[in-house]
Amino acid sequence: MRITHHPILGEPKKGKKVIFNFNGKNVEGYEGEPIAVALMNAGVWVHRYTKKKHDPRGLFCAIGRCTDCVMVVDGNINTRTCITPLTEGMDVWQQDGLQSVNQ
Ligand code: FES
Repeated sequence: MRITHHPILGEPKKGKKVIFNFNGKNVEGYEGEPIAVALMNAGVWVHRYTKKKHDPRGLFCAIGRCTDCVMVVDGNINTRTCITPLTEGMDVWQQDGLQSVNQ
């Protein structure tokens, strides 16, 4: 799912490969890329569930405006994963309403 070459932008700059936690499982990504990109590459499309109807939501605007990609990151709810850079060992959980699916 990663773009390895872009006709205008060229080769993407990759950070070092890192491991982070997604819903209790180890997932690989590249340091500095948005968390949502690492999750998309791992086949994860659902980032949160809505509070009232529990409808799934995922990456939509990808520029930090819509809040569909919010997740619980290192214990912080409502973290916009499309604009939050990935670091080694991050603890990322799907969000259900205003809490982690872990709770
Ligand atoms: S996808 Fe819209 S804020 Fe992240």
